[in-house]
Amino acid sequence: MPAFLPVLGVETSCDETAVAIYDGDRGLLAHLLHSQAAMHAEYGGVVPELAARDHVARIHALVAETLRRGGLGRGDIGAVAYTAGPGLIGALLVGGAFAAGFAAATGARLLPVHHLEGHLLAPMLEEKRPEFPFVALLVSGGHTLLARVEGVGRYAILGQTLDDAAGEAFDKTAKALGLPYPGGPQLAKLAAGGRTGRFRFARPMTDRPGLDFSFSGLKTAVLTALPADADAQTRADIAHAFEEAVTETLAIKCLRACDETGLRRLVVAGGVGANRRLRERLDTAARRNGIELFFPRAEFCTDNGAMIAYAGWARLASALPAEAGIVARARWPLHELTPP
Ligand code: KG4
Ligand code: ZN
Repeated sequence: MPAFLPVLGVETSCDETAVAIYDGDRGLLAHLLHSQAAMHAEYGGVVPELAARDHVARIHALVAETLRRGGLGRGDIGAVAYTAGPGLIGALLVGGAFAAGFAAATGARLLPVHHLEGHLLAPMLEEKRPEFPFVALLVSGGHTLLARVEGVGRYAILGQTLDDAAGEAFDKTAKALGLPYPGGPQLAKLAAGGRTGRFRFARPMTDRPGLDFSFSGLKTAVLTALPADADAQTRADIAHAFEEAVTETLAIKCLRACDETGLRRLVVAGGVGANRRLRERLDTAARRNGIELFFPRAEFCTDNGAMIAYAGWARLASALPAEAGIVARARWPLHELTPP
């Protein structure tokens, strides 16, 4: 298949049904997303079975509408890329089964995509694109890691979280502060009204060498600091101190990763990359240290179909092998993508 035929991307790894079409010549032609956040909010977190069922209910109409907006028919799609993992197994299987059906019906190629590869390559959807190699900080609800990205499909993990992911820490802390799910963006909003100086939390693992992270202690520190009868200002002050601790920790490790690798390009990806305070900090740090910084726009930091369509296209364009059939892996270490 020539790489210039449009690629349909399907993302169903968690609580977003997302679809997009990427074309090598014309770029992103259309992208749509349905968030299940409101449905899961009642339970305080994602309910896997409900997520899978809702993907089933949404996927057909979402793909039809994305094709319509892109001005394409089903027969114009050259390949269908879908998130094969890591993620919720039932949710993944919906996207995989849909993609396999679409491919069988249209003759399009079927491309399983690693969710984290999608996040890592998301900045390529922007006008200002990083050149390889670069350091990438991937901070999402399920993962927190620093990687050296040599090219499409070539990733070396430099460090990762030993316990909670940064987004998970945001979500759990938000819950402790009485905020509704999904907590990360809500906590960031609360933190904006918080004052500096009243609370201070440690910057975990920054006082020793290495590029790993640990965020579970921070959540415990918040719980210990939080009075049972905390008023609104106290909650905001704690949210502020928590956000400062997480973002400063991430910024310190990013600079360290750039110094240790000698690379001067830094990409930030994943849901927590949408955090404004993190962006501000990294902007300042990058300017001071001669580092070029790349962010996908906020809607391509959180889960989306565009990054999966792009990653599928990039794999085709690089003639990387794709597995046949429906692949769905709840757990899938990123380093397994790197050819031996
Ligand atoms: O990448 P993503 O959409 O899904 C995963 O693959 O995990 O990331 C979702 C995570 C959630 O933990 C959410 O709370 C967090 O990203 N998040 C934020 C913000 N926006 C999303 N955390 C802090 N500040 C934000 N503005
Ligand atoms: Zn994600």
